[in-house]
Amino acid sequence: MSRLEWKDEYSVGDGGIDRQHQQLFALIDRLEDNDLDASAMSVTFEKLDMYVREHFHDEEEILKSVGYDDLDAHLRQHDEFREWLVTAKESFKEGRGDVAAVGRNLHVFLRDWLLSHILYTDQAYKPWLEK
Ligand SMILES: [Fe+2]
Repeated sequence: MSRLEWKDEYSVGDGGIDRQHQQLFALIDRLEDNDLDASAMSVTFEKLDMYVREHFHDEEEILKSVGYDDLDAHLRQHDEFREWLVTAKESFKEGRGDVAAVGRNLHVFLRDWLLSHILYTDQAYKPWLEK
């Protein structure tokens, strides 16, 4: 599976948010590393969970501070993603599926979700940060 590579077109016009997005890319790619055993996968899950929460929180604060007009829809996407992550973590803890398969499935889901969120949903607020 291809690695996530940062492109200039992903920039939302805020250096801090761009760096957080880049770190998310790195964390998501880590899920696909073949050397992950169950405990390393758990640690990666926890890191991802913490990092996503921190990133969403920071992004939401910035969007509130600039008075972004489509905030509610954006928050809904973040909420749905946080809920998905809780469910995914629980099913992993319950031991459904083997570690490598879980890693691959997660990688595909997260990569697709994050890329479409950054490319479409996040890009929509870019003009608001430039005001
Ligand atoms: Fe977002």
